[in-house]
Amino acid sequence: MLEEKLRQLGQGHIARLLESGSAYVSRREIARDLEEIDAPLVRELIAGRFLYEEPAVTAVKPAPVIPASFSSSPESSRFRRHGETLLSQGRVAALVVAGGQGSRLGIDAPKGVVGVTPVRRKSLFQLHAEKILALSNKYAQPIPLFVMTSRANDADTKDFFTAHSFFGLNPDDVFFFVQGMLPSITPEGSFVLSREGGLFMNPDGHGGTLSALKKSGCLDTLKERGIEEIFYFQVDNPLVSICDPLFVGLHSLKGAQMSSKVVRKKSFEEKVGVIAEVEGRTRVLEYSDMNDDMRYAVDGEGEMLYWAGSIAIHMIRRDFVETLTGSAVRLPFHKALKTIPTVDSRGRPTEIQGIKFETFIFDALPMAEKSVTLEVLREREFAPVKNRTGEDSLETSRIMQSNLHRSWLEDLGVNISDRSIVEISPLAALEKDDLRARGKIPPMEVDGELYIP
Ligand code: UD1
Repeated sequence: MLEEKLRQLGQGHIARLLESGSAYVSRREIARDLEEIDAPLVRELIAGRFLYEEPAVTAVKPAPVIPASFSSSPESSRFRRHGETLLSQGRVAALVVAGGQGSRLGIDAPKGVVGVTPVRRKSLFQLHAEKILALSNKYAQPIPLFVMTSRANDADTKDFFTAHSFFGLNPDDVFFFVQGMLPSITPEGSFVLSREGGLFMNPDGHGGTLSALKKSGCLDTLKERGIEEIFYFQVDNPLVSICDPLFVGLHSLKGAQMSSKVVRKKSFEEKVGVIAEVEGRTRVLEYSDMNDDMRYAVDGEGEMLYWAGSIAIHMIRRDFVETLTGSAVRLPFHKALKTIPTVDSRGRPTEIQGIKFETFIFDALPMAEKSVTLEVLREREFAPVKNRTGEDSLETSRIMQSNLHRSWLEDLGVNISDRSIVEISPLAALEKDDLRARGKIPPMEVDGELYIP
């Protein structure tokens, strides 16, 4: 009985609306929403339990980071080779979290469909898929791609892949799974009606990846396919170096359960989480949770103390996911204030300030006994598309993509005019040396737009 379930959750106000046959409340929608809700968990959240607690400033210190210069040291080749071995044995999968909509970019569609590349305007999904195809060809082994969607964009995401023939990937190697939802609440702990007559729900954050992998059966699929390591990334970064063999190898040979890539933060205020160490364990302190003492902390030389900005790229061992999802351990929930579109007591559209709960994948880091943090160069690996204009926008990302590809050609002796915009398909080259190896170097003078297929 719906009304009873609602009352057990302390939501008598919605039960009463159902009983009175209110026109703007839909029994079907409410039933569907309640079906998805983990009732005991929601009760705990409303009571203020399972919430994230910020560590005391005195307990936090910078985490050890392997510097970017390591990648060109002779010592790095052992780790890179190990990563390549795992790739050629088919032991690595790629997982992209794509549950978000492109709302900050002003589009009502999955973020992955946004055309991001500087010349061809390839979508994020196409770009990632082509990188995976190129890697699968290079290592003569399919690399399965797991795509996490949310209720709002699952159908659109699948349709997009289907309409584009999976961008050349074998559909048998692409797996979609849907993350969970949680009800948003008022500051007093009441559920909020959506304008469709159901409950206003929000996706449960990318920490939901872990339980969604298990619930969907994808965790079993990973095991059946002999996958040991998961390369985790966010859909919004066109420069991501998917399954980077050095990162894969470092994480694996050093016996880590979960590892991270970082870049040097460009300012104290940059909106990225930072990697830190608390009681001997690695953690990400999210920018929105960080207090000013930490944000503006400096070392003895007056340099930024927490400079290691997380670019949300992780290696995660499959058996670590199994351990976490098979135990009673939970990721903590972060509360965020949010403007929620709803209806007033007469069913007219209105907005209120409410609360959403989310978990973050990086809160699994302190549960890992061992974790590796590798610094990479921003200009090579991090050009996220977050905002419509200004910082981290389509415009800045396209410039960074073009600049990187231009630098590859310049290093190979090509003379490129300042006006030129350059795009190199992942199928032509995943890195500079692939261009030479494949004889893909263009004429020695370039002016205007250049696309290398
Ligand atoms: C995120 C990280 C931040 C990191 C930065 C790097 C969080 C909370 N913070 O910030 O530490 O430095 O990226 O770019 O993630 N997503 C889902 N389901 C959800 C929520 C998000 O799949 O329920 C996906 C989105 O599609 C997106 C990614 O997670 O790909 C990031 O989410 P977003 O909210 O944009 O995080 P940022 O604030 O950019």
